[in-house]
This record gives sequence, C-alpha cells and structure tokens, in this order.
Amino acid sequence: MSTIYIASDHGGFNLKTFLVRHLKDQGHDVHDLGPSDPASCDYPLKAQAVTDCVLRDESSFGVLVCGTGIGMSMAANRVPGIRAALCTSEFHASFARAHNNANIICLGERVSGPGIAASMVDVFLSTPFEGGRHLRRINLFNK
Ligand code: RB5
Repeated sequence: MSTIYIASDHGGFNLKTFLVRHLKDQGHDVHDLGPSDPASCDYPLKAQAVTDCVLRDESSFGVLVCGTGIGMSMAANRVPGIRAALCTSEFHASFARAHNNANIICLGERVSGPGIAASMVDVFLSTPFEGGRHLRRINLFNK
C-alpha cells in the first residue's frame, strides 16, 4: 500500500472526492490536502501543497486533479525532483511509472470519468519503475 497526497482545485473537486474514497477503500494511506468544498481556488497553490509533501516523503505519490489536468501538471513540473504525468489512459499511467518514474499523476475531471480515472490511479500505483536506461534519461532532466 502507498502513502498518497491528493489535492484539486474547484474544477477537479468532484473527481478528487471520488478518488479519495476509492483509494481509502483500497487500503492506501491517503492525505487529502483539499479543498474541502468546491469554491473557486487557485490550482498552483494546491499543486505546491502536494509537491512539498511528495518531496519530503520519497516513497509517496501525489494525485492532482483540475479541470483538464494541464494546469496542475504545469505547476507541479516546475519543481525540481517532481515528475508529474498528465494521464488520460491506463497506457499513459503505466508508462509514466515504468519509463518516467513519475511521482505524481495529474488528471482532468472534465476529460476523464471517475471509472477510468480510478483505473489510471490503480495502474499508476501498482506499476514499478524499470530503471536502467530510463534512469539515465530522467537523470538528464535537470542538467
Ligand atoms: C478552472 O476553471 C480550470 O482552469 C482549471 O481547473 C484547470 O483546468 C487548469 O488547467
């Protein structure tokens, strides 16, 4: 089971609420960093809350949800050490882990329904990083 830090903005609030329940039901250690209601809020601040936690706890994962997933992935990927993958398919989720060692999955509530979103998160959390040549490549990100 994994430690997971999850947050959204208003555009991702409903999907975030669904995923918190789903992940707790799976037995994960889930930390919901908000928001606690769907009032308008600024996604870069919620992305930062999750990136701070994921950097402090290297074995943890992050889940960020906004309307499209784009703003969250842009904000999270500005932080060195964060590899945030915007996913719209299980294939994305699988290879984001296997080849990119992504530590955050970004999802769009206005793009992906709850069923496929939950599947993507499950695949993401259960797929190991392959290392090898892929480690060499991700080590080049901040050169
Ligand atoms: C909010 O309307 C929307 O812009 C936000 O959720 C996200 O999609 C930004 O990338």
